[in-house]
Amino acid sequence: MPPRSATITVMIQAAYKAARGLVRDFGEVENLQVSKKGPADFVTAADIQAEKTLRWELNRARPNYAMLLEESGAVAGRDSDYRWIVDPLDGTLNFLHGIPHFCISIGLEQAGEMIAGVIYDPLRDELFHAEKGAGAYLNDHRIRVSSRDKMMESVIATGIPAVGRGRYDEYRAQLSLVMEQTAGIRRMGSAALDLAYVAAGRCEGFWEPALSPWDIAAGIVILREAGGYVTDFNGAAVNLDDGDILAANDRVHGPLKSLLAKAKTG
Ligand code: IPD
Ligand code: CA
Ligand code: CA
Repeated sequence: MPPRSATITVMIQAAYKAARGLVRDFGEVENLQVSKKGPADFVTAADIQAEKTLRWELNRARPNYAMLLEESGAVAGRDSDYRWIVDPLDGTLNFLHGIPHFCISIGLEQAGEMIAGVIYDPLRDELFHAEKGAGAYLNDHRIRVSSRDKMMESVIATGIPAVGRGRYDEYRAQLSLVMEQTAGIRRMGSAALDLAYVAAGRCEGFWEPALSPWDIAAGIVILREAGGYVTDFNGAAVNLDDGDILAANDRVHGPLKSLLAKAKTG
């Protein structure tokens, strides 16, 4: 097992703890699918409970750090240098429909830079983690982005923006260009896992417009530590608050960026 810092250990333990509740609740969702009311309220409650657990655990270990949580928003901390960025359940729509693909995502930012990330898929028991300068791991095995360099052999993950979010026409143009020029596109439903999959070499790239900080915070550091490139659609440093993200292995990043640029110009 690679050496783990105290901080990453705190993050992993918090994710494991919150995951226990999510797995139990996911088991219930199937029963609720058949009820007339459906599982929507139940899933919201599961999401909020997972966030409560994460908030409690992270705060207990590092009481001074600030937080940005999807459900509770920003929480100020006495130490303004450090901030946890947390998505307690990424892949909510999958969870709601009983599709077994979702995760918990915890990122740690220091002075505006992502320095540690944990993404945990509890159903597959896949734990992705990374700390700046220490490499990226899947269940303690070192991971690296894939070395595929041909677009026609590449699998590209994406997220389809909900109507009204993101620039829809531009996205449609991107989608049609990328589907014509790659081996295949995957829309799996969890942006955090999409980034982790690029880091692990399962996909060559990923793009999605208008994501939120908690969707991408942890994935950014995991991907970088796995040797990947992560930018906005123009190749500039990714801005957590703007949320357009283009992530890929070092060979596919350039060609994928060119395709996305082409979609803009028409
Ligand atoms: C969503 C997922 C999805 C992405 C959406 C996100 P949520 O997060 O990451 O893959 O396409 O843009 O909002 O709502 O499941 O936490
Ligand atoms: Ca999310
Ligand atoms: Ca979420």
